[in-house]
Amino acid sequence: MTELDRAQREHRASEESPDCHRLPPGPAELPVVGSTVAASRDALGFAESLTSYGDLVSYSAFGEEFVAVFDPEVVETVLVSRNDAFEKGDFEMAFGDLVAPRGLAFAEGERWRRQRTALQSAFTPERIRSYADEMVAGTAATADDWADGEVVELGDAFASLTLRVLTRALFDLDFDAQRGAVVREATRAIGAIMDRFGLLSFLPEWVPTRTERRYERAMADLDGLVENLIAERRGDTADRDDLLSLLVAAADADETGMEPEAVRDQLVTFLFAGHETTSTALTYACWLLAGNPDARERLDAELDAVLGGRDPAFGDLPELDYTEQVVREALRLYPPVYSLYRQPRTETVLGGYRIPADTTLQLATYNVQRDERWWDAPDEFRPERWRGDPESERPEYAYFPFGGGPRHCIGMRFAMTELQLVLATLARRVEFERVTRELDLSMGLTLDPGTVEVRASKTK
Ligand code: HEM
Repeated sequence: MTELDRAQREHRASEESPDCHRLPPGPAELPVVGSTVAASRDALGFAESLTSYGDLVSYSAFGEEFVAVFDPEVVETVLVSRNDAFEKGDFEMAFGDLVAPRGLAFAEGERWRRQRTALQSAFTPERIRSYADEMVAGTAATADDWADGEVVELGDAFASLTLRVLTRALFDLDFDAQRGAVVREATRAIGAIMDRFGLLSFLPEWVPTRTERRYERAMADLDGLVENLIAERRGDTADRDDLLSLLVAAADADETGMEPEAVRDQLVTFLFAGHETTSTALTYACWLLAGNPDARERLDAELDAVLGGRDPAFGDLPELDYTEQVVREALRLYPPVYSLYRQPRTETVLGGYRIPADTTLQLATYNVQRDERWWDAPDEFRPERWRGDPESERPEYAYFPFGGGPRHCIGMRFAMTELQLVLATLARRVEFERVTRELDLSMGLTLDPGTVEVRASKTK
């Protein structure tokens, strides 16, 4: 936004508002492009630089007006106490249109509510318990496949593992290598297009680029795969009650208000939301453990004491306190979903500032979870900070890796169970030594660590 635009906007705002609320402060920006160059060159560094302007910070990029939010109380207001006043908005929907616009993650209002209620049955505590054995078995098979001393790229290894767990648990089927590759390629193609997402808005639409062609090919393959899955399940006479069967039945009976085309979007939503996030979290957790021998020792001691040489089961989770602390701390330092986006339905006031209706709020998870006002030594990996009841000492929304309020992650319990069981199963079998010394962080589909290689040595 230019200075002139900003001044006109503020003038309009003050004329309409008896309170004369001002827009949040922000960096001085170039006309038209605003902060686009800085934000797309180094999005993490740019977000960090914004924190010096305050808890709510205006900037413009990618042709949109943004307000970055670094205040946990405002995060709580947007996600929880006044959630009805906000929607996902244009910026999120531009991403949703690339992936699955009619799926749960992007639906709004009554449609969203009906979908959420219908899909919730796949995520009850009883259901999660029934997925646990598959989580452990899949992990054991993955680790047993590694040769002693093999250098493993964690992102690839965990993406295959979490996709296997997801499709078996939620769809009751095995993906062969070819089907797995279709989903992985679609994930990568979307990640690649997102890297240059902002710049797309400056390109004439007809310019063919390799990235766009790759994306279109990958999505066509994914659509073919999903169509086959639906057709196969329709022709299946077995009595199943997994998520895929629920979706197909719902579309046929139109019981949930889920129109048939939405089934495709729903499947795509779960294929993406359910595997890449968890895989990324596992990558960070293992890389952190590999560089922190004290934490690894404490983890091993807990596993020895609780499991005594056997694999973990769902019933062990309440006793695996330190394992849970490792997971929570990894999600604090490296939240796979690094920012949430919302747009006010009408002009509103937040944190004492005026927020026009067309503004995209960026709730900055990564930055809030490393803010030294709420966290001692915020950049250090200290799982034990989660011991006891530490939440009472800081605002609740100083930590929100799974979002919050009615739209919090529907797979949160699934993910937390999987993360703990996978770590415990792996730690019994292998030790990791860092080959990749430094992470090359960037903001992609999830918080992308770059290539993460470790040497996996068998523990026995
Ligand atoms: C570590 C792993 C995960 C993380 C960090 C994560 C994070 C999140 C976050 C932050 C949101 C809220 C987005 C927003 O409010 O804008 C969300 C929503 C969602 N997540 Fe997850 N997630 C994870 C795993 C999963 C899994 C395993 C599944 C499914 C099996 C899943 C399915 C979804 C869906 C469908 C939504 C949209 C919910 C709605 O809008 O009602 N996620 N996730």
